Amino acid sequence: MELGLSGKVAIITGGAGGFGAAIAEEYAREGVNLVIADIVIEPAQKLADGLTQKYGVKAIATQTNVTQKASVQEMADAAIRAFGRIDFLINNAGLIKRRNVLDIDDAFWEQMMTINLRGAIYASQACIPYMADPQYGGQSFGRIIMMSSSSADHASAGMAIYSTTKVGLEMLGQAISKEHGHQNVFAIFPRFGIAPTAGWDFVSYANSLGLTYNPDVPDDAKRVVTEYYAKQLPLGRVGTPEEVAKLVVLCSASVMDSMINQSLNAWWGRG
Ligand SMILES: NC(=O)c1ccc[n+]([C@@H]2O[C@H](COP(=O)([O-])OP(=O)(O)OC[C@H]3O[C@@H](n4cnc5c(N)ncnc54)[C@H](O)[C@@H]3O)[C@@H](O)[C@H]2O)c1
Repeated sequence: MELGLSGKVAIITGGAGGFGAAIAEEYAREGVNLVIADIVIEPAQKLADGLTQKYGVKAIATQTNVTQKASVQEMADAAIRAFGRIDFLINNAGLIKRRNVLDIDDAFWEQMMTINLRGAIYASQACIPYMADPQYGGQSFGRIIMMSSSSADHASAGMAIYSTTKVGLEMLGQAISKEHGHQNVFAIFPRFGIAPTAGWDFVSYANSLGLTYNPDVPDDAKRVVTEYYAKQLPLGRVGTPEEVAKLVVLCSASVMDSMINQSLNAWWGRG
């Protein structure tokens, strides 16, 4: 299927690693120009240079801390300086951390809410005015992908705050669609399931799930946690960042316009 994305411009927050890097590559494959916005600039720049070379798209990297409003505004401004338009915003930067309810303190609450939710609010506020104004890109157009989670549907032990941030992200998306749908700017929120990345704290997962692993064997906690989840899934395996990336790119194509304002359960059959 021809997605018709070539020449468009995507900003990916947290774009240097995990899902973000896979999404960047999938967009580049479709001919989409990129702003890879991440708190760590070195891997973001390396990825941007590599994708430019491999796919012939234009990709820039910005050192962006989504918790800082000015930093996020500069990300959107840099996109306009480089490309003159913003078509897609992927609100992807996020922390996946577990903490049982009785152990949640203010610092944990603040960190999770600030990165996972406030960061998405700042990025949406910075990008929507450019998306909605036909001066940028020649027509009012914008798709905002909220990187939600199965945790927005059901909270597991240890995931109270994470789940709360993902529900908040979806409500932010719903409000944006209602406020800006008439300008052809709206959000979609795929809820991904288990697709382990470097961001997972496998030791804390193993401990809170009561799984036994050998701390002296590198990646043993990752192995037991991955096996634990794989056994619960119908395919007998967990998901991959590459599968996530394909769905995100699809969500930005006009073929998905009927899914405006929807949560999409994309969690490999997790019960
Ligand atoms: N991995 C999964 O199984 C899974 C499942 C469902 C949803 N998600 C969501 O997908 C998103 C990406 O997850 P991931 O597994 O790729 O995470 P990850 O930790 O592997 O990558 C996160 C990226 O965000 C960057 N980042 C961290 N703090 C930042 C900040 N303040 N400003 C800008 N960038 C920052 C990191 O440098 C990193 O490149 C998250 O929102 C997560 O909640 C992940």
